[in-house]
Amino acid sequence: EKGGHDYFMLKEIEEQPAGVAETLMGHFDKGRIVLDEQRLADQELRDFDKVFVVACGSSYHAGLLAKYAIEHWTRLPVEVELASEFRYRDPVLDRSTLVVAISQSGETADTLEAVRHAKEQKARVLAICNTNGAQIPRESDAVVYTRTGPEIGVASTKAFLAQITANYLVGLALAQARGTKYPDEVAREFGELEAMPELVERVLETAPQVREIARRFADASTVLFLGRHVGYPVALEGALKLKELAYMHAEGFAAGELKHGPIALIEEGLPVIVVMPSPKGRAVLHSKLLSNIREIQARGARTIVIAEEGDDTVRPFADHLIEIPAAPTLFQPLLSTVPLQIFAAEVAQTRGYDIDKPRNLAKSVTVE
Ligand code: M6R
Repeated sequence: EKGGHDYFMLKEIEEQPAGVAETLMGHFDKGRIVLDEQRLADQELRDFDKVFVVACGSSYHAGLLAKYAIEHWTRLPVEVELASEFRYRDPVLDRSTLVVAISQSGETADTLEAVRHAKEQKARVLAICNTNGAQIPRESDAVVYTRTGPEIGVASTKAFLAQITANYLVGLALAQARGTKYPDEVAREFGELEAMPELVERVLETAPQVREIARRFADASTVLFLGRHVGYPVALEGALKLKELAYMHAEGFAAGELKHGPIALIEEGLPVIVVMPSPKGRAVLHSKLLSNIREIQARGARTIVIAEEGDDTVRPFADHLIEIPAAPTLFQPLLSTVPLQIFAAEVAQTRGYDIDKPRNLAKSVTVE
């Protein structure tokens, strides 16, 4: 049942290409994006004037990524909030607000309460969920199911990638309804998404190299993660994986924030994992991150860099280089997250921990 692995998590990491593919399946029909249980009229989709995304943990990190895509494609303002904070601060919600609730289990109490609060305020709710018929989708106005099969490992892996994919479907559905993307543009983005599972498969081939690097750092007391733009939520997710599995102090930063404080942490030998944007994307992002790596390396950090294949500019600054295939900027997190999952799992296993059942954690958190 663990597919020849010692742990479900390792099997679930390998199931990610299929999970992304399944999540896309059937959502593009007769030239249009279609959602699952859509109880929202087209008119409503067209008339939303803002979007809130609410979620916890890894699902929240997926939500942070939704913001980049939805704002870019639809020009709707998007706020992303931890579900546990959302309803305690009187968010501004009404009939023309779309709340996207992301939950693998569909039973997370914090997210469920955020959904209920949104509905009381007359907002419309769209759930992204991995569990058919769970409470959150039952109470929502529309659903996109992440069809990646049950996730057993407490650390979210395949559900995270599938959630990112589902976010993009929601973004494209909104863009289509609002007319901010032409039908051929929506079709092209969908086509590029459909090409992602094969690229995720290729990233999985880096596993032996990533494991080897992870074993070298298994004794570290802290690991920092840096990213910019969509690489920032990836950095947060990489740090969360390492905390929950390896019980190691880890923190993700927006690379631009380094000089506003965290750079004081950099010392000789400190491992820093950097998620590089594509050199073919926004040049300014790439060059800014390059100078961040230069800065930390000059202060003695050990840099582990995830970069696009053929990006030779990073080589001088990377003590360890993990190469991932080229992908459109918005979709790169589907690739760059995978080595971070493998890294955390390997550090935890080297330390002798059960990666399916980390201490103090439950798969589904049904209390607030
Ligand atoms: O089932 P949910 O997606 O609502 O769960 C949210 C978080 O509890 C979950 O993502 C948690 O952070 C994972 N253990 C992360 O790996």
